[in-house]
Amino acid sequence: MTNALTTEFTGLTFVNPFVLASAPPTESKRKILKAFESGWGGVVTKTIGLHPVENVAGPKTVYQRTSEEKPYVSRTKRPDTVSHSSWNWELISDQPLEQWLPDLKEIKETYPDRMVIASIMAGAGSEEEMDNWRKLATEVVKVGCDALELNLSCPHMDRKDMGANVANDEEIITSILNAVKQVVDVPIWVKLTPSTATLVDAAAAAYAAGAASISLCNTFPSLPLMDPETHKFEVEVDGLVTSGGQGGLAILNQALLRVSDINRAFPDKPISGIGGIKGFHEAFNFIVHGAGNLQVCTAAMEEKGSGGVGIKLIQELKDDLTDYLKRKGYNSIEDFRGIARERIVEHSQIRRKSDDYNGGYQKSA
Ligand SMILES: Cc1cc2nc3c(=O)[nH]c(=O)nc-3n(C[C@H](O)[C@H](O)[C@H](O)COP(=O)(O)O)c2cc1C
Repeated sequence: MTNALTTEFTGLTFVNPFVLASAPPTESKRKILKAFESGWGGVVTKTIGLHPVENVAGPKTVYQRTSEEKPYVSRTKRPDTVSHSSWNWELISDQPLEQWLPDLKEIKETYPDRMVIASIMAGAGSEEEMDNWRKLATEVVKVGCDALELNLSCPHMDRKDMGANVANDEEIITSILNAVKQVVDVPIWVKLTPSTATLVDAAAAAYAAGAASISLCNTFPSLPLMDPETHKFEVEVDGLVTSGGQGGLAILNQALLRVSDINRAFPDKPISGIGGIKGFHEAFNFIVHGAGNLQVCTAAMEEKGSGGVGIKLIQELKDDLTDYLKRKGYNSIEDFRGIARERIVEHSQIRRKSDDYNGGYQKSA
């Protein structure tokens, strides 16, 4: 009997659809091996690049919590709080490609049935940068990575030719995909930023240029909070801060809209859902908007005693999905994937008490 959790996605077989997203849970061989031992179906590695990386001289990530009594959001420890979100300004991996390569080879040899997707990032606008994309892609595929995720969404770059800064530029998206497709033959996922008004156009360009899937969402650009008493930001270095990225439960609803936007525009195209998944309910919601693969970051990082890889979380996700499939008589997530699509409509298509409303326009006589 095949396992009901087995999921085909972009031509790859996942033992379950749950994947650790590109972030600290996938930043090292040790953590990735631990993640696979715990049962994750795949990992997207922490983004690997060739340009210089140096993180800020202070905390890179904080966890914000809220409570029923005085429900302000803060990283400050208080009794009876629940998780609200993560906020980070961490750059991509500072481990060099040369160190990643033997690690990736060993990971893949140790767990051949788990999917290893290498997240890579380089610049744009010159042949030299296109060569960097080609080099990264070629090398990680040579050591056994099953797919690539192109990071066109890192929100922390000053460089105008990298990360989220290029996600509005359909020409650049196309040129990067063309360069990478020239040298490798594995599925290419493209991770986009949610912070653009032209997301559907960006996804269209990526799919047209041969992307196997879009991954959404990276973190939402945002600021940390200032403490009213001390006038310090909850994360700062020398009193200064800059835009960082918010993840976790607080971004769930916004991430769902982004995934739904893409799914309604391209109903037959694969999409990997990310943003606020903490358990089955959130995963379910991404699936009904078309996601065939689920990525998790903040909830895994927050799980105490798991070394930041979500040991209990993956067990719970698998158990709760198995139980749901059984109760509903479904064979796999394909039986309910995309069921919300036709029910997301224009505002004026929602019934009014009268027949008079015309989307804010005067009705012609
Ligand atoms: C500390 C931290 C580091 C991250 N680093 C990367 C990265 O290197 N590459 C990337 O594509 N996304 C990165 N992300 C974004 C996550 O992969 C994910 O898209 C985002 O956190 C939303 O998922 P979540 O709500 O489950 O946290 C990072 C997120 C966090 C919190």
